[in-house]
Amino acid sequence: MRAWTACIALLAAATLLAGCERPPVDTVQRGYRGTGMELVYNPRTEIRVAEANQAPPVTEPAGSDAGPKARDIYKNVPLLGHLGVAEFTRYMAAITEWVAPEQGCNYCHDPANMGEDSKYTKVVARRMIEMTQHVNADWKPHVAATGVTCYTCHRGKAVPLQVWFKAPPQNNGANFIGDRAGQNSPMQMVGLSSLTYDPYSLYLLGDNPIGVGATTALPTGHVASILHTEQTYGLMMHMSDGLGVNCTYCHNTRNFKTWEGSPPQRTTAWHGIRMARDLNNNYLEPLTKSFPASRLGPLGDVAKVNCATCHQGVYKPLYGAPMAKAYPELLVSASAQAKVADGLPPPTAEALRSVLYFGVGSSTLEGEQAKGLTLLIATLVSRPSAKAAISGYHSASGELSANQQLAKDRAVKVRDSLVAAGVAPNRVLLDKPLQAEANLSGEDPAARRVEVTVK
Ligand code: HEC
Ligand code: HEC
Ligand code: HEC
Ligand code: HEC
Repeated sequence: MRAWTACIALLAAATLLAGCERPPVDTVQRGYRGTGMELVYNPRTEIRVAEANQAPPVTEPAGSDAGPKARDIYKNVPLLGHLGVAEFTRYMAAITEWVAPEQGCNYCHDPANMGEDSKYTKVVARRMIEMTQHVNADWKPHVAATGVTCYTCHRGKAVPLQVWFKAPPQNNGANFIGDRAGQNSPMQMVGLSSLTYDPYSLYLLGDNPIGVGATTALPTGHVASILHTEQTYGLMMHMSDGLGVNCTYCHNTRNFKTWEGSPPQRTTAWHGIRMARDLNNNYLEPLTKSFPASRLGPLGDVAKVNCATCHQGVYKPLYGAPMAKAYPELLVSASAQAKVADGLPPPTAEALRSVLYFGVGSSTLEGEQAKGLTLLIATLVSRPSAKAAISGYHSASGELSANQQLAKDRAVKVRDSLVAAGVAPNRVLLDKPLQAEANLSGEDPAARRVEVTVK
């Protein structure tokens, strides 16, 4: 009998410790001596992580792009038409390796008609190309010159290994407890702690303030509730897990809140949070309707990005391998290219604000400018009580009364585009700007604009 009890006890101990790693571990000092800022590594798990995070070899760039451009030969290349044909072909081969090596070109293409957009994967891929360019061109405070390629997230798989969906409520039935929110059941996404699950919906979508302590004595503005506190810790567990580091990688744990004594990595992480939100709010969520139902989560939402999507357990994705610079077409954002094309600034296309620019004396939206309202329309569709306020502006040159009429015509034109896209007319307001002229002298392209904000 006693032997049995001992056996069971041993078994129980082995099961309990199965989640632990075998010592010895290495520590690396991260801050001044005496601050306890140490990073703990296990060399044995580190080897496995390192093996899984090697960048694939890059092919040589095609070099000179003299000769025909892709747009001269192909019919449906709005995004990559400016590339030379050789570079275009190299790029198609590379994205096939990164995203669909087993399925090949036909994962996105109908082989009978390569120019057709009949597969959802091609529609998604086009937006993904824009997203990758946007990360590399506009999120340098986070990705620096290292940048990202499709491989950073996809690693040779159509669906990146680490994505997240909104978690369905865990109802307890008709008792007092209500939604358990994942409490007391270890969840992978919060580093196997028993914190409330799904910190992502709160912090990696929208733009909720993160934090556990109020900054003022009285509850003005953001109130850090127990929920926010738990979710903040949940997010921090994910960030640590996603990067394979301890809290001390970004904090002097004497005081988690203060930025004094935090290593510079915390600032990089701060930008990373904003970047993940931007990708989820402005790129992935608006693609929801493009995906087949089988790709959506239990609540019908699209797969979204968190820190682990790129980092996959490493402090810099692929240990900082500078893959992106070998693919120049991934580094420039499409809107920057458009600027070169027609001399107008690229439209600002954000979920809550659009700025569109017009040619001299013109009230027509042309080229890239015509696409600048897409995200805003998606917001208006998803938030039926929100309204759009539209203000038209003109440049300083020319006669004032004609210019004022022009500014109004521009605003009306944008209002008509929104109504044509299905937004109810009573949700679109013309808002006379306080100052019609942009304080810019002469014929400045930045002055000839319409600003639309969601309220
Ligand atoms: C992950 C999706 C994806 C894969 C895989 C892919 N492509 Fe494409 N392909 C695209 C997208 C997106 C475009 C449109 C680019 C643009 O908008 O400028 C495109 C356009 C093209 C076009 C221009 C067609 C036309 O007439 O407009 C050709 C040719 C092409 N791809 C060849 C290939 C080849 C060859 C392969 C395999 C080596 C391949 N693609 C793999 C996404 C993909
Ligand atoms: C920041 C991470 C990230 C980067 C970089 C990225 N993707 Fe994606 N991609 C995603 C996520 C998240 C999804 C949604 C997963 C799903 O399909 O449900 C996705 C989905 C896709 C799909 C649809 C696959 C399917 O079977 O449903 C294609 C095709 C795709 N990406 C192509 C690309 C291409 C091409 C690039 C590079 C130009 C790229 N992606 C770069 C995160 C990324
Ligand atoms: C990769 C960097 C990084 C790691 C690792 C990290 N944090 Fe954070 N932490 C941040 C950043 C950045 C903020 C500020 C977030 C913001 O304001 O958007 C923050 C904020 C916090 C806050 C909120 C402070 C306030 O303002 O009220 C707490 C608490 C916190 N972290 C605890 C932790 C704990 C505990 C761990 C380890 C489990 C951890 N952090 C790991 C970067 C990190
Ligand atoms: C789109 C891909 C992507 C996503 C998503 C992403 N990162 Fe990063 N991150 C990178 C790249 C690339 C670098 C390397 C930059 C460099 O070489 O300096 C990096 C670097 C960092 C660093 C600096 C590491 C160091 O030692 O200098 C921190 C900290 C970091 N990321 C935290 C985060 C956190 C936290 C999140 C989630 C909120 C996140 N990242 C999401 C791509 C990403």
